[in-house]
Amino acid sequence: MKTFTSVADIGSLTEAIAEARAIKADRFADASLGRNRTLMMVFFNSSLRTRLSTQKAALNLGMNVIVLDINQGAWKLETERGVIMDGDKPEHLLEAIPVMGCYADIIGVRAFASLTDKKADYEEQVINQFIRYSGRPVFSMEAATGHPLQAFADVITIEEHKTKPRPKVVLTWAPHPRALPQAVPNSFAQWTVAAGYDVVITHPRGYELAPEFTAGATIEYDREKAFSGADFIYAKNWSAYADPDYGKILSTDRSWTVDTRSMALTDNAFFMHCLPVRRNMIVTDDVIESERSLVIPEAANREISAQTVLKRMLQSL
Ligand code: CP
Repeated sequence: MKTFTSVADIGSLTEAIAEARAIKADRFADASLGRNRTLMMVFFNSSLRTRLSTQKAALNLGMNVIVLDINQGAWKLETERGVIMDGDKPEHLLEAIPVMGCYADIIGVRAFASLTDKKADYEEQVINQFIRYSGRPVFSMEAATGHPLQAFADVITIEEHKTKPRPKVVLTWAPHPRALPQAVPNSFAQWTVAAGYDVVITHPRGYELAPEFTAGATIEYDREKAFSGADFIYAKNWSAYADPDYGKILSTDRSWTVDTRSMALTDNAFFMHCLPVRRNMIVTDDVIESERSLVIPEAANREISAQTVLKRMLQSL
């Protein structure tokens, strides 16, 4: 595996899930695979889970790890070609990327959407420059339009908890005070459809996601109908994708907060969220603290999804 940015990169999802489960059963089985290999994790944005779980996965494989926070101690990087660099950014990504490639065998990149330039965001201009210019295998630690390590961990978690072959999995928009990217819901839709689940997406009008990510899912504007009979409720906020509102907050309607009343419409569904989560905006205390909440097992499976991807990348070196 040379790149990991979408479900297409994983090949057979059934085989990947089986491999992930084997890794989880014995996460030190390949402890010498990464000996004398270096993972470089490059963060343009903050992280708790991705930072810790990916580093842990690399350590399980015997790798050395370098972490670079671009906005804390590194030179500020210009990302666009053709810019006259007379501002506050003294280095260009086009030099910085191949330099990083000199010191690493595999590179992970976190670079969120700007939410101001839809074309640049949906062309994935930052991570694609790493893929093109680093000379190394590159994987997404959440890029502008996708968060595949999270979605892979979410699918592993659903596989561990489902009680029927084709569970009803509902992705629900929920309110948030800040404008957030579409990366997590895009990938969740893409991966859960690929896993063969009955995927329903519910949100207020205006929050339609990019069709290339939601193909195969049912869009249901009636939230109560969407929740009815659900086996899994996956809550997430995202800002508008559709023009002319790209990146905007269109609603903060707290009737969309996931609470015990809405969960009662489901078939005793599990509650899921990628974290970090704003309590009593996205989900009430009662629901996230309930015994049907899977937020901690999902976070734990981030180590497993990362280790599966790193193992495949190490095997391709
Ligand atoms: N879910 C997730 O990616 O968490 P972090 O932003 O803390 O890495």
